[in-house]
Amino acid sequence: MSNQEMKQYDAPKEVKEIDVINTYELEEKASKIIPKGGFGYISGASGDEYTKQRNISSFNDKGILPRVLADVEYPDLSTSILNHKLKVPFIMAPIAAHGLAHETKEAGTARGVAEFGTIMSISAYSGATFEEIEKGLNGSPRWFQLYMSKDDELNKAIVDEAKKDGATAIILTADATLSGNRETDIRNQFVYPFGMPIVSRYLTGSGERMSLNNIYAQSKQKISPKDVEFLSSYSELPIIVKGIQTPEDALLAIGAGAAGIWVSNHGGRQLDGAPGSFEVLEDIAIAVAGRVPIVFDSGIRRGEHVFKAIACGADIVALGRPMLYGLALGGWKGVKSVLEYFETDLTRVMQLAGTQTIEDIKHTKLFKNSR
Ligand code: LAC
Repeated sequence: MSNQEMKQYDAPKEVKEIDVINTYELEEKASKIIPKGGFGYISGASGDEYTKQRNISSFNDKGILPRVLADVEYPDLSTSILNHKLKVPFIMAPIAAHGLAHETKEAGTARGVAEFGTIMSISAYSGATFEEIEKGLNGSPRWFQLYMSKDDELNKAIVDEAKKDGATAIILTADATLSGNRETDIRNQFVYPFGMPIVSRYLTGSGERMSLNNIYAQSKQKISPKDVEFLSSYSELPIIVKGIQTPEDALLAIGAGAAGIWVSNHGGRQLDGAPGSFEVLEDIAIAVAGRVPIVFDSGIRRGEHVFKAIACGADIVALGRPMLYGLALGGWKGVKSVLEYFETDLTRVMQLAGTQTIEDIKHTKLFKNSR
């Protein structure tokens, strides 16, 4: 984004319910109203975008067997994770800079999430302050996602602030110590058009007019199990380590005191050539063996995907890009419409698969599709 375009960053403003036939169409519609640099940043991934594509296509490697005579009606989508009762097994994923998608920024997303009734993940790279986000969240549950500073005193200050804000867990994103090769952002010369108040204390600037790589370079790059131990003992909150793609890292995280594993490849935005996130889920779940809950993201676009992730070991899933497209198209009401779409879609899939509860999905064996 040139300086000129950035100054005039004209984020969508409309607030309305949206029709969701499927979430792919939302991307198409959002591409027409989000300014070019912002849309490229949100939708783009790294390199050939092979991993981004596999995140979705790998769900087709496994099939859901239709079950009849299953005596099922009105499936129950409720579940729980880390002491939260949830009415659905999906939450908002942490995403930076929602203001790229809508002028209400994270407060808009937060309101949609709160009015629907699930957990909001607040990104350390939010373009809004905790106070601003609270206007939308209005007391609803939230987890805080952390990109660490190189300076642990500053990390303590950020954790203190997140705790004061009411975060009930900390998501430590460990897979983004520098940016993947995002060619669209390079081409668009993308820089954030506004600052990041939560982490500006460890940046040379506010975040405004800075590239992601510049911001990552000022964040902590050398992340190890010691950081999980430190955050866990300092915060006394559950630490969920995000970006796990191998059983080895899951075991390291648990060994360091992680209270949850977040299986994710960052929506294909980091290491291109990595497998689809769904492809690695089952082996990780086997290694974790129920000791801590598993959150899954990267590629969830349909109820079938939620079902398959849970059948392969996820406790809940997190929704990313489709939520920001909902925000762009309809502000908080658009966010709520996207969540309602997933609720309706998962309900249908559960009925057709003969599963009454989320626990039933966990006991469902998927069919290995031949390619
Ligand atoms: C990204 C970071 C900020 O993927 O999460 O852009």
